[in-house]
Amino acid sequence: MNEIQSLRGTADILPPQSALWNEVERKVAEHFERYGYELIRTPIIEQSELFLRSIGEDTDIVEKEMYTFSDRKGRSVTLRPEGTACVVRAAMQHELLGQKIRKFYYMGPMFRYERPQAGRQRQFNQLGVEMFGTYSPLADAETISMMVRLFEMLGLKGVSVNINTLGDKESLEKYRAVLRERARANFDKFCPDCQRRMEKNVLRLLDCKVPSCKEIFQNDLPAIKDCLTDEAKAHYETVLKQLDLMGIKYVETPQLVRGLDYYTHTIFEVTHNSLGSQDALGGGGRYNDLVESMGGAPTGAVGFAIGEERLMIALAAVRGEEEKAKAADVFLVSMDEEAIGENLVLSDALRTAGISVALLPEKASAKSQFRQANASGAPCVLIRGGDERGKGIWNLKMMESGEQKEFTKEEILSFFKE
Ligand code: HAM
Repeated sequence: MNEIQSLRGTADILPPQSALWNEVERKVAEHFERYGYELIRTPIIEQSELFLRSIGEDTDIVEKEMYTFSDRKGRSVTLRPEGTACVVRAAMQHELLGQKIRKFYYMGPMFRYERPQAGRQRQFNQLGVEMFGTYSPLADAETISMMVRLFEMLGLKGVSVNINTLGDKESLEKYRAVLRERARANFDKFCPDCQRRMEKNVLRLLDCKVPSCKEIFQNDLPAIKDCLTDEAKAHYETVLKQLDLMGIKYVETPQLVRGLDYYTHTIFEVTHNSLGSQDALGGGGRYNDLVESMGGAPTGAVGFAIGEERLMIALAAVRGEEEKAKAADVFLVSMDEEAIGENLVLSDALRTAGISVALLPEKASAKSQFRQANASGAPCVLIRGGDERGKGIWNLKMMESGEQKEFTKEEILSFFKE
């Protein structure tokens, strides 16, 4: 075994799975583009301040999970734990937000120092979207429906959508007061983190991962619905009504709060039963105050991110056996050493014409080459040796029928193009 191994909580994505990842990413990109989203790529490393101000200082992510260090000039930098803050930063920096609605999607690695387990890594990948420039509840419904349709498009059955609202600032203030009062009455039962967060950011008590803390509110959670302003209530009702009209099933989940501070109004999480305890496939919501709190103009925004590792686990569970890598279109067999060079020339022309070719670039017995051709899954082979050289042709053999036919180079090219 190598002395140097990958870091705990990171993973190599090896063939043939890597081909599946590519396929999923291509389909997801096409899906997002059908809804008018444009690709944005932001740096993996940002100023730490960005995440403190957006995700929130009292969250688990910021307090315990960030990869934060000083660069060589002593500036505090952080490997991004999520994408929303980065997209907001980029959109503001490049003045992409204004009159028009703007929609961005991103894919790539995020970093959180969590305890690794199945479906939970320290470096993981997200597929995410962010829409800016509208406060409309219909945009929330469109976003949620886009996520649900994405799973359907990938053939992933059995997802559930959990939905809740946090309301606007006023609703949330009222709710925080009710929650704080309830929490204070149980002060001693909470973990030290919750005791500390109770006064500063009481909402965080609802996503504490300590089981005994979870229990406290389990049967006796104050309802956010009772604290909503009329406007916030109307917003939420419109989202649900629109989802009903679109035939999107959901479960109203009053205990859902999400672990990031920037949310307002609609929040949602999608789960899949194949994922065990780490069952959140993705989550998101509206964050109307974030752009303004980062120094921009008031800008309505909504988005979500899907955990790509978890998506692949769920897909594998649904699809059953792991899929094979894509086979080459043709395998070139070289019967002597000269044929290797001739086959390389032919492969060059075939590949340029868009045909995928497999061949061995070194001397090997015919038997071994046919064995590899079989294993490659290529439907046919092209054989070149002394006889073929004499006639200026290749022998094309169909693997399944064993049928064989002579072809010149030009004939081969037009055969495969067809
Ligand atoms: P999040 O819920 O923190 O939201 O992460 C979204 C998804 O990323 C999770 O549902 C999960 O599938 C995946 N994920 C999170 N942590 C890990 C991990 N340690 N290992 C594997 N997968 C993980 C956000 O990040 C928000 N930025 C989503 C959003 C976008 N809200 C609005 N716009």
